[in-house]
Amino acid sequence: MEKIRVNLGDENSHNIYIGYPLEKIAENLKFEIFGNKIIILSDKNVFSLYGENLKKNLKNTGKKIKEIVIQPGEKQKNLKTVLNIIEKLLEFQVNRDDLILNLGGGVISDIGGFVASIYMRGIKYGNIPTTLLSQVDASIGGKTGINMEKGKNLIGSFYQPVFIYIDLKTLSTLPYREIKQGLSEIVKYGVIKNKDIFEKLEKIQIEELEENFEYLVKESIKIKVNIVEKDEKEKKGLREILNFGHTLGHGIEISNLKRFSHGEAVYLGMLGESFISYKKGICDIDIYKRIKELGEKFNFLTTYEKINIEILVNFLKYDKKIKKEKLRFVLPEKIGKCKIGVEIEEQEIIRILKELKNAEKN
Ligand SMILES: NC(=O)c1ccc[n+]([C@@H]2O[C@H](COP(=O)([O-])OP(=O)(O)OC[C@H]3O[C@@H](n4cnc5c(N)ncnc54)[C@H](O)[C@@H]3O)[C@@H](O)[C@H]2O)c1
Ligand SMILES: [Zn+2]
Repeated sequence: MEKIRVNLGDENSHNIYIGYPLEKIAENLKFEIFGNKIIILSDKNVFSLYGENLKKNLKNTGKKIKEIVIQPGEKQKNLKTVLNIIEKLLEFQVNRDDLILNLGGGVISDIGGFVASIYMRGIKYGNIPTTLLSQVDASIGGKTGINMEKGKNLIGSFYQPVFIYIDLKTLSTLPYREIKQGLSEIVKYGVIKNKDIFEKLEKIQIEELEENFEYLVKESIKIKVNIVEKDEKEKKGLREILNFGHTLGHGIEISNLKRFSHGEAVYLGMLGESFISYKKGICDIDIYKRIKELGEKFNFLTTYEKINIEILVNFLKYDKKIKKEKLRFVLPEKIGKCKIGVEIEEQEIIRILKELKNAEKN
């Protein structure tokens, strides 16, 4: 168990509780400071696993507990869902002192945080992230949002939760496919900032992941918190380092719609970007090889075989509305250290990635 403080100035500072049991939340947090209602927002999958127990425990706070349960999935991140949730909050006569409790993955914390930021000009919310991705990434940092047809997260706000409460045991019901979503972000944290995380992953096998979640989640969170504290609203460009693997990754994700999950795409992105880094003389080929070996061990796709490089780079250009045909990358120098803002011409990226594809065959 560990408590990490996120320091953001009076109003927005809050604690992250890592490795605390869900069934003791009422004892562990001070609910007195909130109004007389707690509204649990969750999706069907998560609520059926953890909802009733959470409700039972929260009753110890003496408050009225209500739930809003939505369908699972990224598709729910839209305005219609937001309006439906707001209708429910009005029906429950939720007022500004009450608390919304987001129980679920990144979809739930993104929607719930956004609703909290606009309902009655802002009410308090807490996150109980139940996916590895939301524990190490989505539930932290105060970015909330929903999607539009034209793209992801086009509507949103910066709005911090009042606490984040993580019970690592919830990961025991999460399918491995979803574990990988978080795992690729953890590998990213290792490459950009903390070689110990990376080396830990190199040492362990898939079966040993669970016993290492506490360490991996805690160390990953520390990295994200540190960056968010320095650049909460993304004004200083410090959050850019978190984009390692995400420049190519994002392109792979959108150009191959539905073929690759975010985590799979980011993993390929990290491989491509570390190969680019090697070709630009910024790091040794070893970095690429180590990330690849790690990916193979944890069952990620680790080859560009099925990716059309021209289409991918075109998507990147279009998406970033690039002017001078240059793309910006975060490139590793060694495990634990990266260079940000490296600009490379589109044609050079195409050439290097084609070379990578050829090299994979040998
Ligand atoms: N705000 C941010 O800073 C930020 C950062 C990264 C990602 N995100 C967002 O996060 C979202 C992805 O989050 P996600 O990967 O957590 O997806 P998710 O919330 O859709 O959860 C994935 C699936 O796992 C199920 N699930 C959740 N917890 C479970 C558990 N403990 N046991 C069994 N099943 C469980 C869910 O019902 C869902 O079907 C995306 O919308 C993305 O844009 C936001
Ligand atoms: Zn990501």
